[in-house]
Amino acid sequence: MTVLATNLCGVPLRNPLIAASGTAGYGPEIADVVSATRFGAITTKSITPESREGNPPWRVTDLPAGMLNAIGLANLGLERFVDEVLPGLAALDTVMIGSIAGHRIDDYVEVAAAFGDATAAALRLVELNVSCPNTATGRLLGSDPDDLATLVAAARQALGSKPMLVKLSPGESDVVGLAVAAVRAGADGLTVANTYPAMSIDPETRRSRIGRAAGGMSGPAVHPIAVKLVHDVRARLVTEGMLVPIIGLGGVQSWSDAAEFVLAGATGVGIGTGLFVDPGAPKRVLHGLEGWVQRQGIDSVGGLVGGFET
Ligand SMILES: Cc1cc2nc3c(=O)[nH]c(=O)nc-3n(C[C@H](O)[C@H](O)[C@H](O)COP(=O)(O)O)c2cc1C
Repeated sequence: MTVLATNLCGVPLRNPLIAASGTAGYGPEIADVVSATRFGAITTKSITPESREGNPPWRVTDLPAGMLNAIGLANLGLERFVDEVLPGLAALDTVMIGSIAGHRIDDYVEVAAAFGDATAAALRLVELNVSCPNTATGRLLGSDPDDLATLVAAARQALGSKPMLVKLSPGESDVVGLAVAAVRAGADGLTVANTYPAMSIDPETRRSRIGRAAGGMSGPAVHPIAVKLVHDVRARLVTEGMLVPIIGLGGVQSWSDAAEFVLAGATGVGIGTGLFVDPGAPKRVLHGLEGWVQRQGIDSVGGLVGGFET
């Protein structure tokens, strides 16, 4: 599949398809179901300094146009991740992206310091999940450009030179402004985007269909919204002369969903909910993408990034 080979922030990927954080376990779990070699990269579940149980059930519910989740960052914590999971990741035949989360800047700094080159060579890139409430203010850490810039700069310093993606919160009114702030503060790439704030109410019980009043929406419902965000973020970064690679993420189920992200400006294409719906999706998506690139008469998928014409 050489037409699909690409490069993300200086790291060669065999194809642009990237397993989204939180939908592929820490990596080895998804590899039990879908060969790791299908993916250009796999993103780990978000890791916080302390282990977290996550939210009470139900944590996910199926909706007609996708999935609503409120997982609550359940993970085994940095120490156990480093001791028990990290040593096994090098055996997975794909690029691994380590996802970092927290509730204070210090949390990100602590995990970033452990995910640097010296200590975590198996993680070729990292991704900051900034869609987490700040314990001090209650606001999402990634919701204010100044707060986001402070967080990104601190993580950048702790991480050293390893490529760092920032995964934007799409529930914010000015996602493009957040993208600019993140890149100015040192992001090497952007993931656009996380889940969208949403609710689903059971009319009989009058209660939420998940264990929290609200959660994050993913799946087909969010795809066209995410495509526009990728397009708008790229356009602004081009205007500002600060273009960085973008991972388009949200609702990919077919090759044409992935191709839309590429045309809107994405170098990488994430897939999360689509893996739950059909573990055969990566094979289908890659096969279709390859045929599409060839039909376009282009010798590499990279030649189609941002190729949307109005
Ligand atoms: C069950 C579930 C768990 C998730 N956990 C995380 C997580 O730990 N960290 C994170 O950055 N995003 C997490 N996400 C968001 C996904 O990475 C992705 O941004 C979102 O689902 C949109 O992509 P999709 O429509 O292809 O699923 C999670 C999503 C789901 C459905």
